[in-house]
Amino acid sequence: MNNFQQQLLQGIPTILPNSKLYNSEINHAPKRKNILSDDEKKLALKNALRYFDTKHHAVLLPEFKNELDTYGRIYMHRFRPNYEMYARPIDEYPGKTIQAKAIMHMIQNNLNPAVAQHPHELITYGGNGAVFQNWAQYLLVMKYLAEMTDEQTLIIYSGHPLGIFPSNKNAPRVVVTNGMMIPNYSKQDDWEKFNALGVTQYGQMTAGSYMYIGPQGIVHGTTITVLNAGRKIAKHGENLAGKLFLTSGLGGMSGAQPKAGNIAGCITVCAEVNPKALEIRHSQGWVDEVISDLDRLVRRVRKAKEAKEIISIAYQGNVVDVWEKFDVEYIYVDLGSDQTSLHNPWAGGYYPVDLSYEDANNMMTEQPDLFKEKVYESLRRQAEAINKHTAKGTYFFDYGNAFLLEASRAGAKIYKNANQEFVNKDSPSLGEGGGGWAYPSYVQDIMGPMCFDYGFGPFRWVCTSANPEDLAKTDAIACEILEEIKKGAPSEIQQQLADNIQWIKGAQENELVVGSQARILYADAEGRIKIAKAFNNAIKNGEISAPVVLGRDHHDVSGTDSPYRETANIYDGSQFTADMAIHNVIGDSFRGATWVSIHNGGGVGWGEVINGGFGMVLDGTKEAEQRLQAMLFWDVNNGIARRSWARNNEAIFAIKRAMEAEPNLTVTLPNMVNDNLLENIFKH
Ligand SMILES: NC(=O)c1ccc[n+]([C@@H]2O[C@H](COP(=O)([O-])OP(=O)(O)OC[C@H]3O[C@@H](n4cnc5c(N)ncnc54)[C@H](O)[C@@H]3O)[C@@H](O)[C@H]2O)c1
Repeated sequence: MNNFQQQLLQGIPTILPNSKLYNSEINHAPKRKNILSDDEKKLALKNALRYFDTKHHAVLLPEFKNELDTYGRIYMHRFRPNYEMYARPIDEYPGKTIQAKAIMHMIQNNLNPAVAQHPHELITYGGNGAVFQNWAQYLLVMKYLAEMTDEQTLIIYSGHPLGIFPSNKNAPRVVVTNGMMIPNYSKQDDWEKFNALGVTQYGQMTAGSYMYIGPQGIVHGTTITVLNAGRKIAKHGENLAGKLFLTSGLGGMSGAQPKAGNIAGCITVCAEVNPKALEIRHSQGWVDEVISDLDRLVRRVRKAKEAKEIISIAYQGNVVDVWEKFDVEYIYVDLGSDQTSLHNPWAGGYYPVDLSYEDANNMMTEQPDLFKEKVYESLRRQAEAINKHTAKGTYFFDYGNAFLLEASRAGAKIYKNANQEFVNKDSPSLGEGGGGWAYPSYVQDIMGPMCFDYGFGPFRWVCTSANPEDLAKTDAIACEILEEIKKGAPSEIQQQLADNIQWIKGAQENELVVGSQARILYADAEGRIKIAKAFNNAIKNGEISAPVVLGRDHHDVSGTDSPYRETANIYDGSQFTADMAIHNVIGDSFRGATWVSIHNGGGVGWGEVINGGFGMVLDGTKEAEQRLQAMLFWDVNNGIARRSWARNNEAIFAIKRAMEAEPNLTVTLPNMVNDNLLENIFKH
């Protein structure tokens, strides 16, 4: 057994490792708000110390107190392992079950410094999207996974491994919950407090469920969104050549925007205030050029427009300045959006204009109330500038980062009155979908009706051999299957299939892999099942050399209830319920998922969304084939059924097709009410 394997099996070391120096080369999480009273701090320390033998408490207590005072959280830096953190080939993990080894592969990928946003704070993306709360949890989870059999299930509460319980081969190996709160305790400050106490975490979507695959995961969805936004604004069917897309954020997910802009064929300007985040994306080749002077940016964009260049430019600075500058300089913006982390506005997700990056970081912890005012002021200015652009014709859409939600809370003018003038309002409108704002969410206009309602969503897989040749084989298999499906597909989904075939054909060339050998591909239930079956056969035949993990983003057809994002195109009032996400994860777990997870928060923020996902290990066996068939069918179709009940025509079409194909499926269909009949009854 090698040293790495020994360390995994050891779990929390019995002899204290040396304390670790703070490495300022690494992109660290911002210091969190000092929210605990002294009594609560004592509780946080007691909570942290329960992972360790009492003989170590005298040494660890002052150290953990110092971490709590300095960072606002206890990360237990001393226990960060010395081995390199990356997804190793599956047979390098010790263990008694292939399924648990595959999960270790996925966890290490989520914490790989080339992949994770704040790797030392165990944050994968989105500023606070945590895999674990502290390093003790990581060490214990890896140990349990290395020890358990496939007759057991590991239970995880927000990163904390409660234990391994007896179960059976068909049960999930791991069940994860993240941030599940009694509903009245889901305000932003509740996260700050209970996370600081060490009893909950914000798992985002794929961070706390070990399914993150780097920015590739979002490039595909972003490409589809930008392409379709382009189709919406095309007057004569022209493409995006010479058109400008202005947005912000070069972080975990937002960093995909420039690459997607290049694939979609436009000029992208993406503002980013954090020089480290910008540098990472530039060095990885995800953005072509960097400019930090606004006048130079204006000149460069004019030149790019004239030459119809396909180019992505990172502006090092605040996005509000760019919106305002482009307005006064008459730079026409064709497509506009925003991907700052507004799900997390008070703790580093959004940097207000006219404050330096350093000043903002200090203010958010030292003067949180003033910082909040600055954020709101900045959002009002940003919305004001965007309104000027949209009055000239810009198509602006909310990109699922809670921009419109927070801007509305800031009192920004993002509603329109009967005279089509921009106004503010006290609370979002219900029943209109999204918040009833002047601008659509990308799910209302694009992703919902074109993809989710038909069952197309961000299916993904990871080759646990860590061998690029296996990934290339899976790409070829998936492409062949989509081409076959397209031949007999109805006209309603021809465009989606064509876009996805084009994507998978270009996937190798676009060099999308960062971290594990993973691929994302939007597919519907039929596509997902057929592709998964073919992978399982290829593993059985030895064509693919090791198990493949299937999964998906939570941002999908069925996994997420989120009124300002995934379910923004649900208009029957049920967008504020979370039955679908809960049923989805329960249904996945007894139909064969290898692991399942359900989260409060993800994308738009703590308390604003419930989302879930799964991982499924394909090992070439007959059992894996049965599981994939049962689980993937449910995983997609339960969401289509709900979307159909909400009267979405595309979903009604898709679920009727599913019922024709599967005699065991019977879904309750809605009857449509004649609007005139309804209106008339209120006239009398
Ligand atoms: N649409 C989707 O499908 C989708 C998917 C994933 C995430 N999201 C949401 O998008 C947001 C961004 O996600 P992420 O993972 O990239 O987060 P992130 O925190 O890694 O990146 C956001 C970046 O925005 C920068 N920023 C903040 N304020 C700025 C400002 N005023 N001007 C310029 N730059 C600024 C930050 O420095 C940071 O690097 C989150 O709210 C996330 O939930 C949307």
